[in-house]
Amino acid sequence: MRKMLSVFFVCALIFGMLTGCKSSDVIGVDKTVTLRLAHNHNEEHPVHKSLLKFSKDVEKKTNGTVKVQVYPNAQLGSEREVIELTQTGAVDLAKVSASALESFSEVYSIFSLPYLFDSKHHFYEAMDSDIAKEMYDTTKNIGFIGLTYYDAGSRNFYTKNKPIMHPNDLKGLKIRVQPSTTAIRMVELMGGAPTPMAYGEVYTALQSSVIDGTENNEMALTSSNHGEVAKEYSYSEHAIVPDILIMNLDKKDQLSEEQQHAVIEAAKESTEYHKIVWAEETENAVKKAKEMGVKFHKPDKTPFREAVSPLHDEFAKKELIGKYYREIRAKAKKVK
Ligand code: GCU
Repeated sequence: MRKMLSVFFVCALIFGMLTGCKSSDVIGVDKTVTLRLAHNHNEEHPVHKSLLKFSKDVEKKTNGTVKVQVYPNAQLGSEREVIELTQTGAVDLAKVSASALESFSEVYSIFSLPYLFDSKHHFYEAMDSDIAKEMYDTTKNIGFIGLTYYDAGSRNFYTKNKPIMHPNDLKGLKIRVQPSTTAIRMVELMGGAPTPMAYGEVYTALQSSVIDGTENNEMALTSSNHGEVAKEYSYSEHAIVPDILIMNLDKKDQLSEEQQHAVIEAAKESTEYHKIVWAEETENAVKKAKEMGVKFHKPDKTPFREAVSPLHDEFAKKELIGKYYREIRAKAKKVK
């Protein structure tokens, strides 16, 4: 059903584009424009709430001349698909994981580098700096830019029935990862069998034992019901991968300077709002997951970190990514 809806929406969007309903026309006629924003979480998820706040603020700050219609639940497609749609302008904005952006701009691979960040504080320090802003612009040449980021917690392994207390516990296990080369390498180095797939397929894959486990934040246990089928959640805290709000570049340029300013300001404010909602909702998710029968474990992170150290050496040697790597790691010392 969801697939059919997606196909319907995408066809409608493409039809709109082909028949010449460009947003510039719309702005010209009645001075208002409605931007379409896609993401893959449900209406209860904190990201959806933060995007609704973004939408409300954009409308307020532009005196109703710019509206943002939020499409949740991957209605418009998987993350890869909505990035492509944002590239062409069939979708105006999308909230996607930085890992999904890795195959569009290599610099985003740095966020899938395990143990890049030492703490949430370190993560915020880097994301609120010019480093992130520079990265957002690296996709200008392919039609879109990043506007801001949303905290998506730390990623941890969870499996149907086995705690992951040491990388050795991953041996022989099929672990779903995001479609990211770096995430694939990470699981390989830790000894598991990486299985990349889109987020929307994970629940069924767990249920039917196509995979033995996966890795994500606590919210996935409740908002995507993974806790119904995966009962052992282990805090390896191997990655803090932000969600990124991207926007079609032409669509942004078609807005007036004031409107662009309002969109950027609203985006930044929604990031700050999200930090608070995220923390509250994560606590709730853990409580709810425990009621679902999920057990939480705290392994020693040292052997996990050691297993992936070759990846750090590789990243440090890369040209542009190596520069970001050093700048981000330097911030770790600053926040200690
Ligand atoms: C997080 C993130 C999603 C992403 C998902 C995944 O939940 O917010 O954008 O799709 O991880 O593991 O694919």
